[in-house]
Amino acid sequence: MNVKLIEFEIMGDERGSLVAIEECRQVPFRIKRVYYIFGTKPYVQRGAHAHKELQQVLIAVSGSCTVVVDDGFERREFEMNSPNKGLFIDKLIWREMKDFSSDCVLLVLANDYYSEFDYIRNYAEFKKYVVSRQMINVQKSKGLM
Ligand code: TYD
Repeated sequence: MNVKLIEFEIMGDERGSLVAIEECRQVPFRIKRVYYIFGTKPYVQRGAHAHKELQQVLIAVSGSCTVVVDDGFERREFEMNSPNKGLFIDKLIWREMKDFSSDCVLLVLANDYYSEFDYIRNYAEFKKYVVSRQMINVQKSKGLM
């Protein structure tokens, strides 16, 4: 699954801590958009979508939350609870975010601007899309396309 945890270096001194993130260095893409989710009400789930092209890195800069990722075949859960931990999520990965602590600030770095056309918001449709992409790739590898 094209999802991986990234550990950011903490630059600390007697005053406290600092993490620096530069595009194409600590994250594997050019950063075109930054947004953050905060003040999430208890028991709320967010996400529940995949992106056709977008790549993202999620960081719980404060508090914690659980991120569930699913490539259509396998499902994994990550506990995001540290400002020096980022979760890289490639395109075509279904994600759900839940168990937000009341102090959670989930920072998201993305490699493109917001576009509703890039979203797949229905799981069955996501699954169909992933399977059809796989079939196209198999045909291409056999030189049939
Ligand atoms: P939504 O995608 O539903 O958030 P989540 O995936 O966390 O549940 O986004 C909520 C609203 O914010 C929706 O109306 C779209 C808007 N939005 C933007 O305008 N720009 C953005 O970069 C994002 C992520 C969302």
